[in-house]
Amino acid sequence: MPPITCIEDLRRIYERRVPRMFYDYAESGSWTEKTFRENTSDFDDIYLRQRVAVDMTGRSTATQMIGEDVSMPVALAPVGLTGMQDADGEIKAARAAEKFGVPFTLSTMSICSIEDVAEHTTKPYWFQVYTLRDEDFMRRLFARAKDAGCSTIVITVDLQLMGQRHKDIKNGLSAPPKLTPKSVANMMTKVQWGLGMLGTKRRFFGNIVGHAKGVDDASSLSSWTAQAFDQSLNWEQIAKFRKMWDGKFIIKGILDAEDARQALNVGADAIIVSNHGGRQLDSALSSIRALPAILDAVGDQIEVHIDSGIRSGQDVLKAMAMGAKGTYIGRAFVYGLGAMGEAGVTKALEVIHKELDLSMALCGRRNINDLDRDILLIPEGFEGHWQP
Ligand code: GLV
Repeated sequence: MPPITCIEDLRRIYERRVPRMFYDYAESGSWTEKTFRENTSDFDDIYLRQRVAVDMTGRSTATQMIGEDVSMPVALAPVGLTGMQDADGEIKAARAAEKFGVPFTLSTMSICSIEDVAEHTTKPYWFQVYTLRDEDFMRRLFARAKDAGCSTIVITVDLQLMGQRHKDIKNGLSAPPKLTPKSVANMMTKVQWGLGMLGTKRRFFGNIVGHAKGVDDASSLSSWTAQAFDQSLNWEQIAKFRKMWDGKFIIKGILDAEDARQALNVGADAIIVSNHGGRQLDSALSSIRALPAILDAVGDQIEVHIDSGIRSGQDVLKAMAMGAKGTYIGRAFVYGLGAMGEAGVTKALEVIHKELDLSMALCGRRNINDLDRDILLIPEGFEGHWQP
């Protein structure tokens, strides 16, 4: 096999190795996928300023995210169904993140449960929660996260209902997968994946099945979302959830300066500028275009992180130079996981770290904490000139 040199190499192997249903789940945006596409193409529109004859020795990408030491400001984002991309996927990804010195965020919609991931790791990880109608279930989720030693809650606020991803409907996406003649035929060609799945008992939504009352179909994300998610969510409720947790609290899914101010008011430690990887509101702005206005509004009062569209160390560099204090990768680590299990997640982190470190140096900078917009060439009007 030729050496893996970039995230795209991992994506190609992942596409061959994992059943179509799960590949499509990760690799989709909602409706026309405009926002999904622009999340990456807008990063491409920003240029980096090459500088020469600057001392490049003694470089460091180490910093902190919400007070936690990180070897680079790149956390693993919560991704639902990760354990369907490769057997025991959440445990593998968490272990890779721990060894690399970056945060791992477990999704509520994970296959491996909160307790299971805690048992197989040694450092506190972060836990992502949705805002659900069943307050009792929420309380128990928080309590389980506490008991498991999680340091941080990441609350997702942009998924009161689910954006439509056409392929998931067509593929009948579920965990465990529905055995239609088409899906069986496709799975038969994914031998390594299948053997891994046969060798594990973790094939259901581990945090939900057996824990959530009155949920009779937790096999599909969309049915569970429709039954359990709180469409009436408001900022008072988010403030209530904040008070239920005495650790660090991150609000994920902010794309507007007014919402960023609200997040500040409820006492979050950080916000994640995110459009959910282009999976929710199609035609929303890309995260990187939305970032500057949010930084202007709250950047001096709260840590502003970003996800959606980050596929390289250069993307991380651009976001950090713009003023973000942390970034997240979702698909980029899933490609690695689906391609090569834990080693693939490590590979994805190594690729991004190397790209970040070398590109920072070629911009004439040695320390991730000393970046600023001076290394960026941002096209005029990048943020958009919108009519009032
Ligand atoms: C869940 O968060 C999803 O985007 O599928």
